[in-house]
This record gives sequence, structure tokens and C-alpha cells, in this order.
Amino acid sequence: MAELSAVYFAPFQGITTHIFRKVYAKHFQGVDKLYTPYFSNFEPGHALSAVKMRSLQNRAESGIEVVPQVLSKSAEEILWLAQVCEQLGFRELNWNLGCPYPQVANKKRGSGMLPYPGMVDAILEQVMKSTGIRFSVKCRLGYYSADEAEALLPVFNRYPISELTIHPRIGKQLYSGEADMEAFARISEGLTMPLAYNGDIFSVSDYFRFRAISPETTTLMLGRGLLRDPFLAGLLKGIAQPQNPGEVIREFTEELYQSYRYDRNDNPSVLNALKEYWAYLSLSFDEPVKVFRKIRKSGNFADYEEAIRLIFNEYRWLGSMQATRLSDPDRSHGN
Ligand SMILES: Cc1cc2nc3c(=O)[nH]c(=O)nc-3n(C[C@H](O)[C@H](O)[C@H](O)COP(=O)(O)O)c2cc1C
Repeated sequence: MAELSAVYFAPFQGITTHIFRKVYAKHFQGVDKLYTPYFSNFEPGHALSAVKMRSLQNRAESGIEVVPQVLSKSAEEILWLAQVCEQLGFRELNWNLGCPYPQVANKKRGSGMLPYPGMVDAILEQVMKSTGIRFSVKCRLGYYSADEAEALLPVFNRYPISELTIHPRIGKQLYSGEADMEAFARISEGLTMPLAYNGDIFSVSDYFRFRAISPETTTLMLGRGLLRDPFLAGLLKGIAQPQNPGEVIREFTEELYQSYRYDRNDNPSVLNALKEYWAYLSLSFDEPVKVFRKIRKSGNFADYEEAIRLIFNEYRWLGSMQATRLSDPDRSHGN
């Protein structure tokens, strides 16, 4: 069975901001690429807004490559952003064909384009002719039905896509049900480019389950699992873990808080960004509901600081290791 070769941190609109990426990469190991949340609403030929430029200021964080992502149904737009990224020194642009939200998908963007392989084909044709940097794609199995993948595979295979990341749900599902690991394994046999798997890996045991289904896949993109447990990439790669992971989490969240306040000049939106992230992080404490309630109720910075003090005094960080120890299939066989 092949070993895991690369782990990527999936993009999350509103969470994996440039601030988050910088602070995350300083404290944790195991991730090989960090993706930006998608860029949309920009005009070819016009300078990107200051906010967008700020989020593109670093090509790498602590040595980890950053990959910008674009959400668009226009080859002209995509090529414009690719050119901007190239000039800034980025080596890859990722195309979002996975976003499931109706306000995006109804406009045939994100996973809403998957039922239209002709459109995907026309855009790839134009983009691949002219782009100066690697062009990768992140997609779902389809929008209305997983059968849509049938028509998409030959389209994808026709172009030198640098990597295809597949999240095996359909757009209509949003995040309900389970990622269909078997469907990913079936589809991967018919694809010729490097592949990455994305979906529902929350623990080492989830990874073992996936590896049994798709033994040849060695590249993973982790999303919510890594938001819940920032150590997960290192755990999957067998990197030695700190003696006191709760202390690392405390330092990480403290630096994240201070960095957001500094970056946003103490704007109250800092609390919203942190609350969005803690909705995931709280799930790795022994009392997730209580932990998140403390954060959610914070109305100002003083409340937040007090909530943090109480959380790290009163609750225990468990991470995803607990589940691993109980159900790690390799260990249960005594190796
Ligand atoms: C709040 C939220 C924001 C997201 N933003 C993006 C995004 O900007 N670009 C993207 O490709 N995927 C986005 N995703 C999808 C994730 O990157 C990932 O594909 C998804 O969570 C499935 O992987 P997981 O099961 O490992 O979490 C988002 C998901 C959520 C829940």
C-alpha cells in the first residue's frame, strides 16, 4: 500500500484567511499546500482591490506553498487572475468547480457548472492554451447527480490539469450524507492526471478506512477535520506530536486572536472570524457544546479573552487522537 505523500489544507471562505494561514503554518506540521478561499468578483484588466491583494501577499507561509483559488465561469477572468498570480510569484491557480451553495451554483459557477461539460471544456481549452502557471481543479462528482462525472472525465483527461481534487459528494447534497469514497476510487481509475482526495477525513481511523478503499491515492486534502484538529495532518504523516498539545492549541489561538486584531485594527469583525473557526475547533474539546457556547456568547474582546481563559482552565483538549486510539485498525492487529 502506498504511503501518504502530500496533505493539503482545504480552502474555507471566511476562515482560512491570510492571517489564519500564516499563524497555522507557524504552529503545526504536516501540511504541504495551503489554499486561499476562492476569489470572485474582480474585473479583468483592472487592479485587484486592496483587500484581495492583501490576501495574496504571501506565496508561502513558513515554507508551505500557498495556492490561490478562483471561482469563475469566464476564461478571460481566470486567465487574468492567473496572470496576476504569476506576476506575484505564485506557481499554481486552482479552479473551484465544487462550491455547492445555490447562490453560486444557480449561476452555473462552482459545482453548478458540472452538468455542463461543454462549458468546462471550452473554458479549459482557452485557459490551458495561455496560462503561464500550473492550473489545478477542485470539483465534486456532479451537481444534480453523480452520473455527471461520466461526461466530465474525458473532458478533464484532455487537458494537462496539474492536479484534480475530488470531493465525492454532489452539489445538491451540500454537506449532508457521506463522502462517497467508493465512487472516488472508481472514478480515479479513469483519470490520467495526479489526483487528490477530499472529504470526511476527521481522524486517523477515517484515513485508514479511506486507504483500504483507495490504496493508490497518496494525496489528501483535509478540510473540516483539520479545522477541528490542527494536528491531524501531522498525525496522518506520523510526525511526532508535542507532549502537551492543548498548550500548543492555546498558543495558536492566542496568536490568531492577536494577529486578527492587529490586521483589522481591532474591528469587531475579528470576533465573527474567530467564532466561525471555533465552531470547528470546539469539537475537539471534551465538552464541545460548553466550549463553543462560551465563545459564541462573547460580545466584545474582554468577553472573548475571559472565555478563552475559562476554556483552557476548565476543559481538556482531546483532538482527534481519542477516536484514533479506539479504532485504529493497524494497532488492533498488534502492529
Ligand atoms: C464554510 C465553508 C467554506 C468553504 N469555502 C470553500 C472555498 O472557498 N473554496 C473551496 O474550494 N471549498 C470551500 N469549502 C469546501 C471545503 O474546502 C471542503 O472541500 C469541504 O469541507 C469538504 O472537505 P472535508 O470533508 O474534509 O471538510 C468550504 C466549506 C465550508 C463548510
